[in-house]
Amino acid sequence: MKGLFITLEGGDGAGKSTQIRNIERFFTEKGLSVVHTREPGGTPISEKLRGILLDNDNSEMDPVTEMMIYAASRAQHVKEVIMPAVQRGEVVICDRFVDSSVAYQAYGRELGDMVRDVNRYATGGLTPDITFWLDIDPAAGRARAAKAGALDRLEVEKMDFHYRVYEGYRRIAESEPDRVKRIDASDTVESIRDHIYECLEELCRSKGI
Ligand code: TMP
Repeated sequence: MKGLFITLEGGDGAGKSTQIRNIERFFTEKGLSVVHTREPGGTPISEKLRGILLDNDNSEMDPVTEMMIYAASRAQHVKEVIMPAVQRGEVVICDRFVDSSVAYQAYGRELGDMVRDVNRYATGGLTPDITFWLDIDPAAGRARAAKAGALDRLEVEKMDFHYRVYEGYRRIAESEPDRVKRIDASDTVESIRDHIYECLEELCRSKGI
């Protein structure tokens, strides 16, 4: 049996962590085995790369270098964690995946199509079964992220960067409506959960789970 691969996306401060816990509960209550992981990170090598990517001291990092380190971290993660779990029939819930690179590096850093090309190599073309985009206004998201703690190297970017990232997510959602579900992150935690659960029920029905 093949498992499921579910990803969560959104600007910083969108409330992904809370909803990941809800998704985890949804599947464990169905008796399925769940792997909860994140990007950048999720393996020892990928977590080291995460440290480099988010370190505020690395302000001179070139956008192409940045894009390739995200892709390198992802290649390791797909091979070591995501693919083996999906092949065992487990449910993998991943906090961010290729869509983050498209939004932040292709749109935010304005690197364009090369981001998708590099990521196709990195992932072997693996695509999530469903992706939840927690849609939050960039200014509101940044205010929430700042309240939650110190901002990392990407979070401290100027607001026009964050608006380009937002536009990236909007276009991804528009071009792949079957896979990418837009969730209004300004709703209450409970209505966000209910909306996500409806989409998951439909996904499970379509997969015979
Ligand atoms: P996190 O704060 O959600 O853990 O993500 C770390 C930061 O890295 C966040 O600001 C988004 C950014 N990011 C990219 O720029 N490209 C990527 O491919 C990924 C996965 C994250």
